[in-house]
Amino acid sequence: MKFFIDTADINEIKEANKFGILDGVTTNPTLIAKTKRPFIDVVKEILEEIPDKPVSLEVASTDAEGMIKEGEKLASFGKNVVIKIPMTMEGLKAVRYFENKGIKTNVTLIFSPAQALLAMKVGASYISPFVGRLDDIAHTGMDLIRQIRTIIDNYGFDTEIIVASVRNPIHVIESALAGADIATIPYNVIAQLSKHPLTDIGLERFLKDWESVPDKPF
Ligand code: E4P
Repeated sequence: MKFFIDTADINEIKEANKFGILDGVTTNPTLIAKTKRPFIDVVKEILEEIPDKPVSLEVASTDAEGMIKEGEKLASFGKNVVIKIPMTMEGLKAVRYFENKGIKTNVTLIFSPAQALLAMKVGASYISPFVGRLDDIAHTGMDLIRQIRTIIDNYGFDTEIIVASVRNPIHVIESALAGADIATIPYNVIAQLSKHPLTDIGLERFLKDWESVPDKPF
């Protein structure tokens, strides 16, 4: 399973990139707004750090014509830019346009298998079902991932599932078990994945015992 980072914070992207586990970046208008920095500066820095892996940048128009105009501008920033488009009928028109031109798209705000199916039918490169927000309203977000996985396997769609709205390590593990292609993960959850109290206790004990070893080479 590939790991994307879900952030527009360049420091988080740089830090996660050092681990060598990063396969891409996703942003959205909320994440960009959180940086409180000019959009162009943020995007330039992200694309400099991640020049050859997919970076999703989202359009802000709601009509197909506007999305196409904005998406073309975003695509001009780099070959690895993926145009993130909301799951609406207008959005689907824009997806078809970009996919015909060989520009990758990521259909976002997917909350049902029907929406996923439509996005895949128009040729989306990626779809982003939001598990955390479904959990928030007492639906099992991960069920949606399992349903979409089955649909893809039944019909052989090329679309990749990006599990989005990931809130905790269990979401990541369940995504892997459900056969998701990608999870887009906030930095704090990436950090949490490495943690286990028994690792900390074990390390502390090794270091203590090491102190008593005579004639150490280091
Ligand atoms: C998806 O690409 C979105 O950027 C993101 O995962 C949404 O997460 P949230 O529900 O925590 O805002």
